[in-house]
Amino acid sequence: MIPKVLCVCFISIYLSTRLTLQVSLPASPDYIGAVVEYNPVRSDYKNATEITNENTKNYVTIIKIASENEVDIIVFPENGLLVSGLSLGNRSNYLHHSSYLPRPEELKVPCHDASSNVMEAVKAISCAALHRRIYVVINVREKEKCTGANCSKDGHNLYNTNVVFDREGRLIAKYRKWNLFGEKEMNVTAKPELSTFQTDFGITFGQFICFDILFQTPALKLITEKKITDIVFSSHWFSELPYLTANAVQTGWSYINDVNFLGSGFNEPSTGSGGSGIYSAKNGHLARVWSEKQTNALIITKIPKIKHGSQKRSINPEDTKILYLTPAQISTNPSNGSKTQQVLKMDDTTAYTTQLLQPKNGTFNVTLCNYGHCCNFTTNTEHREDLIKGAAKYYRYRFAVFNGVRSFSDVRTGGVEICSIIACLDDNPTSCSKRFDSNTIIVHPTTFKSIVISSKVQDVPTVLRMPLNINTELHPLNVSDFTFTSDKINATHVNLKYSLIKPRKDLMTFAIYGRNFTADGLPKTVNSSAGLFPHISLLIIMVILGITSAYEISLFPSKF
Ligand SMILES: *[C@@H]1O[C@H](CO)[C@@H](O)[C@H](O)[C@H]1NC(C)=O
Ligand SMILES: *[C@@H]1O[C@H](CO)[C@@H](O)[C@H](O)[C@H]1NC(C)=O
Ligand SMILES: *[C@@H]1O[C@H](CO)[C@@H](O)[C@H](O)[C@H]1NC(C)=O
Ligand SMILES: *[C@@H]1O[C@H](CO)[C@@H](O)[C@H](O)[C@H]1NC(C)=O
Ligand SMILES: *[C@@H]1O[C@H](CO)[C@@H](O)[C@H](O)[C@H]1NC(C)=O
Ligand SMILES: *[C@@H]1O[C@H](CO)[C@@H](O)[C@H](O)[C@H]1NC(C)=O
Ligand SMILES: *[C@@H]1O[C@H](CO)[C@@H](O)[C@H](O)[C@H]1NC(C)=O
Ligand SMILES: *[C@@H]1O[C@H](CO)[C@@H](O)[C@H](O)[C@H]1NC(C)=O
Ligand SMILES: *[C@@H]1O[C@H](CO)[C@@H](O)[C@H](O)[C@H]1NC(C)=O
Ligand SMILES: *[C@@H]1O[C@H](CO)[C@@H](O)[C@H](O)[C@H]1NC(C)=O
Ligand SMILES: *[C@@H]1O[C@H](CO)[C@@H](O)[C@H](O)[C@H]1NC(C)=O
Ligand SMILES: *[C@@H]1O[C@H](CO)[C@@H](O)[C@H](O)[C@H]1NC(C)=O
Repeated sequence: MIPKVLCVCFISIYLSTRLTLQVSLPASPDYIGAVVEYNPVRSDYKNATEITNENTKNYVTIIKIASENEVDIIVFPENGLLVSGLSLGNRSNYLHHSSYLPRPEELKVPCHDASSNVMEAVKAISCAALHRRIYVVINVREKEKCTGANCSKDGHNLYNTNVVFDREGRLIAKYRKWNLFGEKEMNVTAKPELSTFQTDFGITFGQFICFDILFQTPALKLITEKKITDIVFSSHWFSELPYLTANAVQTGWSYINDVNFLGSGFNEPSTGSGGSGIYSAKNGHLARVWSEKQTNALIITKIPKIKHGSQKRSINPEDTKILYLTPAQISTNPSNGSKTQQVLKMDDTTAYTTQLLQPKNGTFNVTLCNYGHCCNFTTNTEHREDLIKGAAKYYRYRFAVFNGVRSFSDVRTGGVEICSIIACLDDNPTSCSKRFDSNTIIVHPTTFKSIVISSKVQDVPTVLRMPLNINTELHPLNVSDFTFTSDKINATHVNLKYSLIKPRKDLMTFAIYGRNFTADGLPKTVNSSAGLFPHISLLIIMVILGITSAYEISLFPSKF
C-alpha cells in the first residue's frame, strides 16, 4: 500500500505543475468545463449582506478548486450569490442588494478598478477569475441608473443578469434575462439581448437563464442567428412531472440543437430546485447531478469541441469528476433531516388525450389524437403479474397526447405539442404527474422491450420538438438507449420517430415534447369534453333564469 502522505504530495505536485501549463488552446480538441450545483447559504439569523458574503467566500473557494482541476470555464447558478429576492421585501431593499455593473465594451477589471462601482461580491469574483486564470459565469441582481420613457420611477432598472469574467478578471459579457419567471420586482430590456462571448480556447459561447430555455427568444436565436455551438446556462429551476424535470430539459435541448450545454442549477429540494450537468449534443450527458437532498457539487468534465456539427465521440468516464463539497470546504445550510426528497411541480394533464396501457406480453399499437395532433405508439412489453403482490407499489403507464396551450405556474402560457408515454401511480389519469415517495420500495412489473412513437407534423421553425426521457429516479436515459429522427415526407411535413431501443423496466417519461411558440400568450386550453355536460345544463339553467348568453361565454371560453 502507498502511504497516504505520499499520495497527497504526489497529487499536489501534479496539480501545481499542470496548473500553469494546461489551458485548452484553440487547436485542442476539448476544453474543460465546470458547473456548480449549489445550495446557497441563506440562514435567517444573518442579514442579507452577511449571507452574500458567505456565498461569495464559497464561490471563491469553488473557483480555486476548479482551477486546481484545470478548468477553463466555470458556471454558477441563477440566484446563488446575492441573497434571494423573495426575502428582501420592498423595492428599495432590492436596490440596496443589487450591483452596478460596467458595460462589457469597457473591458473593466472590477478587481482593481474602483471606478466600476460594483458590489464587493462581484469584485471578489473578478479577483478570483484573475488570480485563478479561469473564465467565470455568475448570476447577480443588477441595478442601472436610468432616465426617460423606459425607466422606473425610482430612477433605476433592475435586471436578473448573468456576468462573465475572463482569465484577466475582465467583465467581458452580460446577459439580462428576457423571460422572467414572475420576478415582479425585476425589469426587462427594451429588446431581448443575444449575448455571446469569445474565449482564448477558440469557443464562442452564448448564454441564457433558466425559464429562457423554454422560449424561442433569445435562446434559439443564439443558434439560428449567431451559429453558437456552446451554451452556458444558469438556472433556479422548479422541476415538474412528467416532462419538465431539470436534467431532462437540459439534455433534450442540447441534443436537439446539437450544442454543448453547461447547465448550473440552484439547489433547494423543498421547491424541486436542482439538477446540473454538462451535455454534449448527440453524445448526451457527459456528467450530471440530480439529488433528492441538499447538495453542493462541482461537476468537471472534458468537453469535445464542436466543429462543423457535433460528432459522436467515445466518452471516457475518466474525463469526468463530480466533487461533492462538504461543510469542511464551504459553509452550508444546516442539513434538514425532514427534507428527504425533491418536492416537484405537477403538469395539469386534464386536457390531454390519454389511454391506459393494458399491461401484457407482446406488441401493442395505439393511435391517439388531440386537437388534430396524432401520435402512433408501438410498444413491446413484458408484464410480470407475479411481482404485484399485496400492497406492492408499481407504476402504470399511459399514452398521453396534447396539442394546445399550457400555463407555466400562472406566470405565462405557451403552446405545447406532445406525444408521450408517462408513468402514473394508479389507473386514474390525474395520478400521472405524481411519483411515489422516493423512499418507498417499488416493484417494476412492466418492462418496455421497445417503444416506437411516430407522428407526422408540420415542419416549422416556430416549434421546437425535444426528445425528453427519465427513469423512475428522474435520471435522463443514456443516448444509447434511444433514437430520434425527423424525415421529410413532403414540402411541409416531417415524420418524427422516437424509439426506445434498449429494454427498461424503470421508465418514467418517454416523450416528444414540442414547444409551439406561435401559441405563446394564448389562453390555456381547457378540456372541452369534460366541460360539455355542465356547459349544456348550465345553459339550460341560464335560459330558465333569463341570464344573458354573454355571461355564459365568459364562463366557458371556447375550446382553442
Ligand atoms: C449586516 O451585517 C453587516 C456585516 O456584519 C453590518 O455591517 C451591517 O450593518 C448589517 N446590516 C444590517 C441592516 O443589520
Ligand atoms: C424597506 O424595508 C426595509 C427593511 O425591511 C426598511 O428599513 C425600509 O424602510 C423599507 N422601505 C420602504 C420604502 O418601505
Ligand atoms: C421595473 O419594475 C418595477 C417593479 O415591478 C416597476 O415598478 C417598474 O415600472 C419597471 N420599470 C419599467 C421601465 O418597466
Ligand atoms: C422603450 O421600450 C419599448 C418596448 O418596451 C421600445 O419599443 C422602445 O424603443 C424603448 N425606448 C427606448 C428609448 O429605449
Ligand atoms: C425543515 O424542513 C421542514 C419541511 O420543509 C420545515 O417545515 C422546517 O421548518 C425545516 N427546519 C429547519 C430547521 O430548517
Ligand atoms: C379531455 O378531452 C379529450 C378529448 O377532447 C378526452 O379524450 C379526454 O378523455 C378528456 N379528459 C378528461 C380528463 O376529461
Ligand atoms: C403494430 O404496428 C406495426 C407497424 O405498423 C405492425 O408491424 C404490427 O404488426 C402491429 N402489431 C399489432 C399487434 O397490431
Ligand atoms: C409474460 O412473460 C413472463 C416471462 O417472460 C411471464 O413470467 C409472465 O407470466 C407473462 N405474463 C403474462 C401476463 O402472460
Ligand atoms: C399511424 O398508423 C396508421 C395506421 O397504421 C397509419 O395510417 C398512419 O400513417 C400512422 N401515422 C403516423 C403519424 O405514423
Ligand atoms: C447510463 O450508462 C451508465 C454507464 O453504462 C450507467 O451506469 C447508467 O445507469 C445509465 N443510465 C441510465 C439512466 O440508464
Ligand atoms: C404533407 O403530408 C401531410 C401528412 O401526411 C399532409 O397532411 C399534407 O396534406 C401533405 N402536404 C402536401 C402538400 O402534400
Ligand atoms: C401552433 O400554434 C398555432 C397557434 O395556436 C396553431 O395555429 C398551430 O397549428 C400550432 N402548431 C404548429 C405545428 O404550428
